[in-house]
Amino acid sequence: MKILVAYYTKTGNTKKVAEAIYEALDKNDKTLKPMKEIEDVQGYDLIFCGFPVHAHSVPVAAQSFLKKIQPEAKVALFSTHGSQREGQMPKEAINNAVGLVKAEVLGSFTCRGGVEQEIIDELMNRPEHRAWAAEAQSAKSHPDRADLDDAQFFAKNIIKKALSFEGYTKK
Ligand SMILES: Cc1cc2nc3c(=O)[nH]c(=O)nc-3n(C[C@H](O)[C@H](O)[C@H](O)COP(=O)(O)O)c2cc1C
Repeated sequence: MKILVAYYTKTGNTKKVAEAIYEALDKNDKTLKPMKEIEDVQGYDLIFCGFPVHAHSVPVAAQSFLKKIQPEAKVALFSTHGSQREGQMPKEAINNAVGLVKAEVLGSFTCRGGVEQEIIDELMNRPEHRAWAAEAQSAKSHPDRADLDDAQFFAKNIIKKALSFEGYTKK
């Protein structure tokens, strides 16, 4: 399978998860790249797309990338966020991302990612951001080794799922 791991990152958290996923893809024909460096998304069987949650949703730059994916590809989404993993926000952001993709989405993964204290302090003064910014205080050590292990487990499961689709089994 020809696999692309595409990510958008501002402060490096999502890149760490992207690298862990890339590492877990073993001997597949794989490429790891920031979204902004990818001109052509054609020709990949499977595309992992990662982004940080920004303002409760998908950053604009990642939105335009997700919209460009051809319907024939298979897609897996991943995201990092300051808020708790179990909360509604990461789910909503992933749902928004699914809505932008024309291709089949095989699964998604999210984990927490630390936010600089200066940014948290500033956002705590803005009512619309206060709730997640307060939660983000405890995300500083993330993504940690356990998050990256989870991401790799997710990636391996996605590969199994993609391979089980007719057409990939003989490649
Ligand atoms: C401008 C901005 C907006 C953010 N908005 C949210 C948000 O709405 N919800 C949330 O849980 N985290 C939010 N975060 C935290 C990031 O999603 C989190 O730190 C993420 O891991 C950053 O990923 P990156 O290092 O790849 O850029 C925001 C961070 C920034 C800088």
